[in-house]
Parts: sequence; C-alpha cells; structure tokens
Amino acid sequence: MIRKCLFPVGGYGTRFLPATKALPKEMLPIVNKPLVQYGVEESIESGLYEIGFVTGRGKRAIADHFDISYELEHQISGSDKEKYLTSIRHVMHEGVFSFTRQKEMKGLGHAILAGETLIGTEPFGVVLADDLCIPEADGDNVMAQMVKVFKQFRCSIVAVMEVPEDEIHKYGVIEGEEMKDGLYRVKSMVEKPKKEDAPSNLAVIGRYILTPDIFDILRDTPPGKNDEIQLTDALMTQAQDGVVMAYRFKGTRFDCGSVEGFVEATNFCFEELYKKGNLT
Ligand code: UTP
Repeated sequence: MIRKCLFPVGGYGTRFLPATKALPKEMLPIVNKPLVQYGVEESIESGLYEIGFVTGRGKRAIADHFDISYELEHQISGSDKEKYLTSIRHVMHEGVFSFTRQKEMKGLGHAILAGETLIGTEPFGVVLADDLCIPEADGDNVMAQMVKVFKQFRCSIVAVMEVPEDEIHKYGVIEGEEMKDGLYRVKSMVEKPKKEDAPSNLAVIGRYILTPDIFDILRDTPPGKNDEIQLTDALMTQAQDGVVMAYRFKGTRFDCGSVEGFVEATNFCFEELYKKGNLT
C-alpha cells in the first residue's frame, strides 16, 4: 500500500568540503557503511523497497554503490572477505532502484517535485540520508514507526523531535495540537525561526511520508527562503486542510549533514554497533 521511498541526494554538501568535492556527501561512511545505505536499509526494513534517488551532478557513486561490481565479486568470491559484502548484497537483493536528476539545485521541495516521475500517484516515504536515525533496542526503525501512523491516518506525516531552545533556529518547527502522546495534528510550520518566534520545541527531521497531492502543491509553490522551493511551504498548504500529522519518533537522530553530528554518529556507531558486532 505504501512501497516507494524517495531519497533527495542532489545537495552539494558544502559543509564537508573539500571531502565532498568529488564524493557525494551521502557516500561518506559512518564507520564502514555509507550514510545512504543506512537510509536505504531503514526504508527496505519498513517495507518501502522501491527506492527512488533524485541525484545531481557528481553523484554517480551512489548508483554504482547499489549496482553489482563484477570485478569485486569475482575477486573476493569464496574468500573470507566475502562477509564484508553481506549487508550491501542484502539491500541490492531486496530493493529496486531508480534514478532521476534534479537539473538545478533549487531546494528540497524542488528535488521532491523532480522525483514525481519515479513516484507517480501513490503515497511515498522521503528519507534525507544525512539524518541518521538509530532505533531503540528491539524497537522499529523510524520509517517503520511512521508507516504505522500512516496506516491509521492516511495523510502526510512528518517526523519530529524535541530540540533545545538554542538549536531551534536550525529546523522547521511545527505548531500542533496533540491528539495523543507523541502525535500532533499540524496547524502550521515555520522554517528556521528565531527562538522567540518558535511555536514549539518540536523540530522536523529528515523523515516524511507524503501524499501525492504534494506534487501539484509544489508545482504552485513559489520560491521561499534562500530563493529555494521549500517543502515546508507545501506542507503548510496541506496542513491548512488538517491533513498533516507530526509524529515524535522513538530513537536517536544524528545530524550527519554537520561535521559535529557526523563525528557523534561515528563515535556512537563504533561503540554501540560496530564493537558489538552489529554493523555489517
Ligand atoms: P541540505 O541543505 O542539508 O544539504 O539539504 P546540502 O545542500 O547538501 O548541504 P550543505 O548545506 O551544502 O552542507 C537537505 C537534503 O536535501 C537534499 C540534500 O541532498 C539533502 O539530503 N537537497 C537539497 C536536494 O536534493 N536538492 C536541493 O536542491 C537541496
């Protein structure tokens, strides 16, 4: 019923220059696995196995990562190094991958609109791979939690988390009416507010489920902040009809689009997953 997930991976990743001059930000590894693979694994585990990438110039390594490398397969086949390919082989077996290009980088909303050709007229997930989400022990991953909420409400869902006052200016922030613990009907949203203007401490992170009417809305959405087409503006239009829910997810999220968050995620994954043999 919901089986597609869009990965906008067109951004320049300027905060990681010079590392991202020729390498896509999404291919930077957290310990031994590229960021984008964590996101794709989360999506497939949630039942969203049709993966659509909205790429840009210089992002070919992402397509290669999810394709067979015959030389490599041949070289290590039957050796004790084969185990290192277990996770990517699993992802490639379970997922179906398609790609389109965002010709100009005009913002997240613009990237999602570019993905319409891969999605069509179905509800779909969106993962921003630079937000790395680690579920609670034995808990569902964040996208799987959102799919459950979607099954109940059948409207657009944004994942939110509580953030401290002095960080709120980095996020889209919701104003919502709490329906039950951790679930809000969104009344409005503000992109990167000053702390005194923030309507709540609930910040939107890079996991969404969107209904396909978002494409028509995005088409009619004029460029907003930074002259970019903002997904937040399109979600505001949906929210006016009462059809956006915010879900306070369970788990830990790292902002791997920033150097600090990336290093924190690396330390966490090394200590909590890799050393315990849970990072393949
Ligand atoms: P960011 O603004 O965090 O990513 O966009 P960026 O532009 O790559 O990073 P910096 O700020 O220059 O370091 C959030 C997400 O939206 C995608 C990015 O790839 C990222 O996953 N995006 C953003 C696009 O796909 N296209 C765009 O035009 C803008």
